Amino acid sequence: MNICIFASGNGSNFKSIYRAHRKGKIKSNIKLLITNNSSCGAALFAKKYKIPCEHISSEKYDDNELEIKMTSVLIKHKIDFIVLAGYMKKLPDSIVNKYQDRIINIHPALLPSFGGKGMYGLNVHKAVLESGVRYSGLTIHYVDNEYDNGRIIFQKSVKIDDEDTPETLQEKILKQEHIYYPKIIAELEKNYEKKSTN
Ligand code: GRF
Repeated sequence: MNICIFASGNGSNFKSIYRAHRKGKIKSNIKLLITNNSSCGAALFAKKYKIPCEHISSEKYDDNELEIKMTSVLIKHKIDFIVLAGYMKKLPDSIVNKYQDRIINIHPALLPSFGGKGMYGLNVHKAVLESGVRYSGLTIHYVDNEYDNGRIIFQKSVKIDDEDTPETLQEKILKQEHIYYPKIIAELEKNYEKKSTN
């Protein structure tokens, strides 16, 4: 299976997925990174490890061109599966439709709570703490045409302590993301291989 990672930020999930691949825990090829921010941590990591990286952003392209560019890059690299790892933009509908059940995302809270537009980064953890819930966590889900809305694949809860701040909660959840995102990708690739040999 050929995987394309999409990322906009630090890229700590991208790094954990790549490391799992290097250790043989993920068998698929990490073929490509697509980013909308050429100087983000994910892009720098790709450069360092010589992973092909495409900078596709709305600063360079209008909506229509961006969709064409993204589609052609995915075709060129024969991408079978898309992993969103901190990608801050909405994917064009045509790509979501083409890759139905082959695009996943990770969200740093227990969906369907604390998701949707504007719920990213520390905003999520602030909202969680303000609500007074005692557990947060992570959700890995398929991507559909709405933010944080697709079918849930996996969730892991994380206990909130009285002294947690948005920053400490983010850190605790990220640690779990780095464990579980690669594991779930490894499981999904097995299913993918099974389906394609049937
Ligand atoms: C993670 O918290 C992830 O759940 C969310 O965006 C963040 C990305 O972090 N979708 P990183 O760039 O992988 O460090």
